[in-house]
Amino acid sequence: MKNILSCLRKLTLLTCLSSTLAGFSPDPELERFVMGLPKAELHLHMEGTMEPELFLKIAARNGMEVPYSEPDEVRERLRTAHDLPSFIEIYEELIGVVKYPEDIRDITLHYYRKAYSQGVRHVEMYFDPQLHLERGMGLDQVFEGLAMGKAAAESEMELTIGFIMAFLRDRPAETAMQVLEDAKPWHKQLMGVGLDNPEVVNFPEKFKEVYAKAKGYGLRLTSHCDVGQKNTIENHWGVIRTLGVERIDHGLNVLDDPELLAEVKARGIGLTGVPSLFYREIPGRLEYRAGAVKGLLDAGVEISIHSDDPGMKRGLYVGDLMLRAQSVTGMTRADLVALAKNSFRTAWISDTERAYYLAMIDDYVASFD
Ligand code: ADE
Ligand code: ZN
Repeated sequence: MKNILSCLRKLTLLTCLSSTLAGFSPDPELERFVMGLPKAELHLHMEGTMEPELFLKIAARNGMEVPYSEPDEVRERLRTAHDLPSFIEIYEELIGVVKYPEDIRDITLHYYRKAYSQGVRHVEMYFDPQLHLERGMGLDQVFEGLAMGKAAAESEMELTIGFIMAFLRDRPAETAMQVLEDAKPWHKQLMGVGLDNPEVVNFPEKFKEVYAKAKGYGLRLTSHCDVGQKNTIENHWGVIRTLGVERIDHGLNVLDDPELLAEVKARGIGLTGVPSLFYREIPGRLEYRAGAVKGLLDAGVEISIHSDDPGMKRGLYVGDLMLRAQSVTGMTRADLVALAKNSFRTAWISDTERAYYLAMIDDYVASFD
């Protein structure tokens, strides 16, 4: 009886999930074009790339007890996420199984393979050291795991990889400063720093000193400004004027304010847009986000599309998201190429590398048949 009930429960869960995932079948020709189009992934979180299957595998090998035995049960938990705070609560719960450098190696290598299969040729990966330090890992272990994943990926595929060390906006700035200082031996492994987790009171001012220090260390600067948060326009101004960022992660509300839009264009600030989907169906979310990406592209902003937390948001990677965004906006192939080019234009790479990747896109488009 217990077994039958458990089977029924799993069946309901599966039906539920597959109806969420069903219903999207892009034009095969367009799909082939988008998946092969060279692109840079500039906005994703190492922690958020962990798929439910890998989460369970890591939990089991680390002897961690978790209240899930099947990947779909983890997905069911993820279905409760409906906004930034509710998503981050689960994100922090799930990453709790990570204990060793090998875990980070496996999570990142899985991501690199998946991204590469969707045309990604350069990755700038966010990671959240505070989340791991809080659970007792050492910074050395975190950097070791990242280095192992990178070395494995770079020997296996033609992919370049850099890292963005993030500070958590809902933790004290003093802790962020401490991490910045403690990470000095590994600064050369970093491209820059960022800010993530939920936006809180006094963001972004509270990170002014941390950012000034990071800049002094030669690190590049970006920050999240999530979509539709409280005081979002002021926060965008703050990250630009107070923190001096070169890119804004998400940043879609720039479209709502003509003055801000003009400033973003004048400064050449790149926006890393994310038309991602929670497991829970949220009517209008994709249309709104994809529409804003298209609006910003048409307005001449250097915006591109990224996957943010693909392992925890329906397993959708950057190619998948470009196709979904296209399906609700009618973006042309030229638009998709412009998005891909913007990802390299705003990447933290040398001008030689930039020219190389832009030419790669031109060659791809010219020879696609
Ligand atoms: N951490 C992981 N994904 C995030 C997002 N979209 N915004 C802020 N923090 C995050
Ligand atoms: Zn993000």
